[in-house]
Amino acid sequence: MVEDLRLDSLEGVGPVTTRKLSDAGIHNVMDLIVRGPVEIADITGMEKDTAEKIVDKARQHLVEGGLLSKDFVSATEIYKRRQSIGKITTGTNCLDTLFDGGIETQALTEVYGEFGCGKTQFAHTMSVMVQKTKEEGGLEGTVLYIDTENTFRPERIVTIAKAHGMDPDKVLDNIIVARAYNSAHQTLILEESGAIIKENNVKLLIVDSAVGLFRAEYLGRGTLAARQQKLNHFVHLLVRIAETYDCAALATNQVMASPDVFFGDPTRPVGGNVVAHTSTYRIYFKKSGKKRIARMVDSPHHPEEEVIFALGEAGVIDPEEAEKKTKKYTKKVKEPEVETITETPKVETITETPKVETITETPKVETITETPKVETITETPETKSTAKTSKSKTVKSTVDAESNDSEPIEE
Ligand SMILES: Nc1ncnc2c1ncn2[C@@H]1O[C@H](COP(=O)(O)OP(=O)(O)O)[C@@H](O)[C@H]1O
Ligand SMILES: [Mg+2]
Repeated sequence: MVEDLRLDSLEGVGPVTTRKLSDAGIHNVMDLIVRGPVEIADITGMEKDTAEKIVDKARQHLVEGGLLSKDFVSATEIYKRRQSIGKITTGTNCLDTLFDGGIETQALTEVYGEFGCGKTQFAHTMSVMVQKTKEEGGLEGTVLYIDTENTFRPERIVTIAKAHGMDPDKVLDNIIVARAYNSAHQTLILEESGAIIKENNVKLLIVDSAVGLFRAEYLGRGTLAARQQKLNHFVHLLVRIAETYDCAALATNQVMASPDVFFGDPTRPVGGNVVAHTSTYRIYFKKSGKKRIARMVDSPHHPEEEVIFALGEAGVIDPEEAEKKTKKYTKKVKEPEVETITETPKVETITETPKVETITETPKVETITETPKVETITETPETKSTAKTSKSKTVKSTVDAESNDSEPIEE
């Protein structure tokens, strides 16, 4: 292992270059790899050739130290390396099955779904689970949580930690929260995160939500290209950090209902193609009454399958756990009505798909996906109540959707 990751440990990098680089937020050899030559030339004003040479030296330095794989490697070597990839348990049997053990380090996992489907709950749960011992399925690591929607709740961490028999104070201590106020700030936090990740043994980097601020700031067709470019930069940075610093990256992405889709899934990732094509794993969370469905949509090696999970005190939980709790509760209150409500699958289908169609009555794709009004509609409680009034049709469209959502996403 190379111990020395200081910039001036590279041949040809003197104090002047070191200062130039650190002024630009590049503090160690790994940061050089994460940012890449084009960006480095851009932000420091140095010649592109010089930047390329420095990055190349950084790469050699890390390869020699065993921190980065060589340019040409045998499949056996990759296989061996993949065996050493860390996995973080989700604390549930159902989601661990879906993820084949848990979420991986050196990869970006994207969870997308509608408002209220459990993305933030999942992020909170993973922030606790990564701290478990290796025997228990964790990585004994800490968390960097980039919160863009002000939905991080330490109280939730406390209840989840307690439910998993962990010391809540210690668990809280191991989560570094960075609140991002705009998309440029969000990107800056990530650009500056290298040192924090290294110093604190961060094993899980969360961005909840990765796309929300970009979506809010770049509205309308005219700004779409600019937004995708910025988002692209952000997401690639996320992937490179995960790979270089050997940590798991978890990004959430809100989707909205698209009334134009009659066949196929009515929800699509807001980030469009950028996030989808870069994430190593993509998981779609869907509401199904009190329960939730998680589907592995896009993975280099997982089969496309679905599992049912639930949300509870312990964060994301197995559906059996939720049922146990419901039964206990219904026994206590002795109300047969409550029992029927919680156990009837019909009730579960009610909230399945919010019918934006009925609200907006505009079949145009462009108008709907680009208009902030629609976004507000999907996120306001009113939508929920609207959804509740339109029970039956929605179920069918979602069922039909199962096989037909591999279409490229665009808004
Ligand atoms: N302490 C809790 N116990 C059980 N369920 C909870 C708890 N806190 C939140 N939830 C559930 O989480 C849902 C919100 O999920 P969230 O992760 O915030 O959604 P989003 O996908 O929009 O981030 C709520 O509708 C509620 O059902
Ligand atoms: Mg959320």
